Amino acid sequence: MCGIIGFTGYLDASEVLISGLSALEYRGYDSAGIACFEDGQIAVRKSVGKVAMLADKVSGTLHSFCGIGHTRWATHGGVSEVNAHPHSCGRVTLIHNGIIENYHELAGELAATGRIPVSQTDSEIAAMLIDSLYEGNPRDAIAKAASRLEGAYAFCILFSDIPETIYCIRKGSPLVACHTEDGSLVASDMVALLRYSKDYFVLPEDQIAVLSRHGIEVTELDGTVVTPVMLHVTWDMSAAQKNGFKHYMLKEIHEQPESLRRTITPRTMRCVYRHDDGSCAEYYLPDFTADKIPDSVFQDVNRVVIAACGTAMHAGLMGRILFERLLRIPVTVSIASEFRYENPILDETTLVITVSQSGETADTLAALRLSRERGAKTLSIVNVKGSSIARESDYVLYTHAGPEIAVASTKAYTAQLAAFYLIAFRFALARGAIKAEVCASMTEQLLSTIHSVDDTLLLKNQLKDISRHLVTASNLFFIGRSLDYALSCEGSIKLKEITYIHSEAYAAGELKHGTLSLITEGIPVIALATQSDVLSKMISNVKEVRARGAMVILITKKEAVVEESLYDYRVDLPDTPDLYAPFTAAVVLQLLAYYTSSYRGLDVDQPRNLAKSVTVE
Ligand code: G6P
Repeated sequence: MCGIIGFTGYLDASEVLISGLSALEYRGYDSAGIACFEDGQIAVRKSVGKVAMLADKVSGTLHSFCGIGHTRWATHGGVSEVNAHPHSCGRVTLIHNGIIENYHELAGELAATGRIPVSQTDSEIAAMLIDSLYEGNPRDAIAKAASRLEGAYAFCILFSDIPETIYCIRKGSPLVACHTEDGSLVASDMVALLRYSKDYFVLPEDQIAVLSRHGIEVTELDGTVVTPVMLHVTWDMSAAQKNGFKHYMLKEIHEQPESLRRTITPRTMRCVYRHDDGSCAEYYLPDFTADKIPDSVFQDVNRVVIAACGTAMHAGLMGRILFERLLRIPVTVSIASEFRYENPILDETTLVITVSQSGETADTLAALRLSRERGAKTLSIVNVKGSSIARESDYVLYTHAGPEIAVASTKAYTAQLAAFYLIAFRFALARGAIKAEVCASMTEQLLSTIHSVDDTLLLKNQLKDISRHLVTASNLFFIGRSLDYALSCEGSIKLKEITYIHSEAYAAGELKHGTLSLITEGIPVIALATQSDVLSKMISNVKEVRARGAMVILITKKEAVVEESLYDYRVDLPDTPDLYAPFTAAVVLQLLAYYTSSYRGLDVDQPRNLAKSVTVE
């Protein structure tokens, strides 16, 4: 949500900023702007629309070695050039990611000093506040401003009388930084820095980073110098590029076998069993030793609460079914934005699992913090190393999906599913709920699922053809039971966010309690029927929609016997045991959404009004 970049050094600043903003564009893309020191003055350029429009405007017009850049996802104030960042007041020019909750009150106070905003943004009020407190010492002004600001922020600030220097502070919103021989860089996400360095640090909250071309100094608010903790990314630039695919989403869908392999295999421990006759058999069990997650985490709890947003929450729905099936302990799934208002019942016997690709989603972070306050144990499933949620959790299980750029999450989702499967298996083993042989066989099946996901990608031509029949739909439904219902929720959000076709996910048995009234001639219904224990019930539900004229796309397994008259299109998933079908069926739903969006000529990777990382509440 809003991308931030700052650079000071020996390279052309506008080029570094524009290329950084292009890499960060998935965080917000309604307007963009940069501010650079040029001949001792601060020059600002802004544009409504995508970063490419700003690039055209900037091209060849700025000669600078230091500047800050921002790509916006509007919160306060509409999409306009005046609301685009950077915002300036007096000697201060800044970019901001987050929301200043008390901006209205501050604006009132600042009006008394003659500072009247020109934009409708909370960010301009922050620039005015820092300017009002600035008496020649930037650190003092920033520290004083921080004590007045409520809400979340990551700021990069230029002071017009301190050339070639960038000041940064954050609370709640992310900022990472690095220094290289080309200069110093800061950004909201490592993707923008990767061209320059694989080593970086996360700026801790309530500390100030001062970037000059010679290095980065980090201090506490009182000026005490601190040494940042360096991190290293293992992926390289190509992981964050399209690599010949038309869209990031399509590339990321194809990366799923690899992302699953990277997430699952390091968490499987090879064991050898010696038979009485001396022969040996090897088997694998889930193992979190390297992740430093001891079995006691699973043994000492009697309840699990899962909190997350969007697609990550849908992975949690799947986690709940697995846990309850294997462990027979109560599990609830909360939408993280509702969690703290539900006054959740938590104590030291509750394990709270937060799930987040970015590790920065404001509501998920708030749920995590509340859980810790109330004494629960916290375990997070996170994709981005060193992110706030990862750092603040008692335990972290990283998914190794690599950078996910498309706003619609695909490989991060299946990697989150894999994490849930591994946790469920280890959890059950640690509590004695399943025997080692059972756990080993389930782990082996999970490993084999990676190949099935690979095979699912071979269905893409069939799915492309089916998508043509969805292009003109204005409403559609996903139905399923048990694991298929949890997956329907994900299929529906995927389709909605990138095709703009309204859809709903329904537990198949619930249709007749209301929504069946919306099923009329030709309405597409995507029926997931991958679970043999509920297949006959599912077929009855398909008959109900078919009888009302629905166009049925049936996603099932080869062995399922279903009368041909009940569906228009049938997709047979590669062979997998029922428990693992969500992995292959997820790929099918992702591809259906992808091709439908593509046929509708939409911006698949950057759907309107959305952003990849939601760092505001
Ligand atoms: C946004 C993204 C979704 C994502 C959700 C949670 O809404 O568009 O794709 O599922 O945030 O994000 P997280 O980073 O916490 O997984």
